[in-house]
Amino acid sequence: CGIVGYIGHREAYPIVIKGLKRLEYRGYDSAGVMLYDDESGIKVCKTKGKVLDLEAKAQEGFTINGNIGIGHTRWATHGVPNDVNSHPHLSNSGDLVIIHNGIIENYAPLKEELIKRGYTFKSDTDTEVLVNLIEEVQKKENIKLGKAVQIALNQVLGAYAIAVFDKKNPNEIVAARLGSPLAIGVGEGEYFIASDASPFIEYTSNAVYLEDGEMANIRLHKPLKIRKIKDDSLVDPYIQELQLNLEQIEKGGYDHFMLKEIYEQPSVIKDTYRGRLHPNEGIVQMAGVEDNLEKFLNAKRILIVACGTSWHAGLVAEYIFEEFTRIPVEVEYASEFRYRNPIINKDDVVIAISQSGETADTMAAIKLAKENGAFVFGVCNVVGSSISRESHAGAYTHAGPEIGVASTKAFTTQITVLTMIALRLGKAKGTLSSPDFHAYLQELELIPEKVLEALETNDRAKEIAAKFKDAPNCLYLGRGYNFPVALEGALKLKEISYIHAEGYPAAEMKHGPIALIDEQMPVIVIAPKQGHYDKIVSNIQEIKSRSGKIIAVVTKGDIQVRELADYVIEIPETSDALSPLITTIPLQLLSYYIAVMRGCNVDQPRNLAKSVTVE
Ligand code: G6P
Repeated sequence: CGIVGYIGHREAYPIVIKGLKRLEYRGYDSAGVMLYDDESGIKVCKTKGKVLDLEAKAQEGFTINGNIGIGHTRWATHGVPNDVNSHPHLSNSGDLVIIHNGIIENYAPLKEELIKRGYTFKSDTDTEVLVNLIEEVQKKENIKLGKAVQIALNQVLGAYAIAVFDKKNPNEIVAARLGSPLAIGVGEGEYFIASDASPFIEYTSNAVYLEDGEMANIRLHKPLKIRKIKDDSLVDPYIQELQLNLEQIEKGGYDHFMLKEIYEQPSVIKDTYRGRLHPNEGIVQMAGVEDNLEKFLNAKRILIVACGTSWHAGLVAEYIFEEFTRIPVEVEYASEFRYRNPIINKDDVVIAISQSGETADTMAAIKLAKENGAFVFGVCNVVGSSISRESHAGAYTHAGPEIGVASTKAFTTQITVLTMIALRLGKAKGTLSSPDFHAYLQELELIPEKVLEALETNDRAKEIAAKFKDAPNCLYLGRGYNFPVALEGALKLKEISYIHAEGYPAAEMKHGPIALIDEQMPVIVIAPKQGHYDKIVSNIQEIKSRSGKIIAVVTKGDIQVRELADYVIEIPETSDALSPLITTIPLQLLSYYIAVMRGCNVDQPRNLAKSVTVE
């Protein structure tokens, strides 16, 4: 979910609405806003659907004035997305209003207790329980909002970023965080609250990021007061200067953020290796790795934990690390790792990969790894994110804000960072020969140009998309380094076009998925010249003899596959290990165009959220 708040001299409504639109990547099942002005008091408007639906609803008689406001865009956890379950939620008296991102795990016993005390509930949400718990504490103790929030939060288990407003003291918003991010923008005589800084970058570049377990009293014309929820101790607000600019979070002429982000890849991959890669001097270095080189070199094992697309980047890294460094690698879904009593040793290096740096399961996995004494290295995109702070060390991907829910540039920049780490370690360990090392550095520097060339497959991808947009199923096959690319290709298609797709190791196809192949089944085969080319040609033959429709991603100038495939997409040649950075490009474009042609909401696919801060 995304939360926004404003208190100051401007009209709050446009700020909250625009802010919510920027945060819609965090969820978009339903949206709501609360505004306050002295004359009409608390006004709430909320609806199932997107922020646009909220705006439409607000036009039907909702008065939009007020200098204090909070808003919410939801990704449903408890209770189906409908008007009633949308945030903000009011307490029984109607005095308190809350917006919440996260989960209150012990909401059921708390709710029971409140019902016994006469409270009633309109929604099925855990959030409505929290706001009434705060009210109950406030009444019982006869205390101000801040104190009541603090006492209530100490009874709560789970994760939250909240903003609470009390009409009895309307010059204040109380915010708190545990496990879900919360930034406070500090302007001249005004404050902003948001899940990330994007809603307020045009107003102020000063931000305070609440740490886990902290809460803030945000009061008009008064300095920010931050304290620890647990013991009430005061914390000095640390004001950071934001690096973000408006251009980065706007579409810049593209129809969708996803397309913009696909096209940004040549430049962001360059940003990723800028200052780190020096082919002429034979150097590849990242501060986080150099400072902890011994830890990496002594590692008996590398464990990679991640979710979604980041997990796929981890799988690519497994192939690269084992090849370059000969260190055994295991790649795990963070959600499985955290709950299966895994074996973690002190000499393991755990690499956590996360675009947002906020994914709850990945966060929990690294906490577990730390508790067991492992060294944790974060590969995150969002600077200052929770995972980047929780890790012992790390390297940022520098892809810039990724707003399309389906991840694209985050994936290729994650692979770039991981490749650089593997190269550095391979050299230090001597497991990578000097000529190979130097050749890879040169080759990596050429990747942005080759990605640019691969983007020329745009029209071809569009043509093929038109042919297959109505397919009910799709199979993606690859081998070696390109097996994870097949998984990622299938995930992209599922996410944004809702076509059922599966990625498979090409040779494994004969142990099951081959049964699905008939003349209706499009099979996308990643078959670059480098790697297991002859093997994959045989796999293509197997599909062909069962009348499957073959779309092959091949190296420019390929003859053999061209003869067998129904459609080919040509990409520039690169080494086997670096090929995922190129082969993945036409697959991103193909999914994009299929989704557009099917009329899907590419940037905000149904049921998904970009940043999943609940487990
Ligand atoms: C969500 C997103 C995916 C992403 C995954 C992991 O499911 O929709 O695109 O790959 O979370 O996110 P992270 O921010 O940890 O990379």
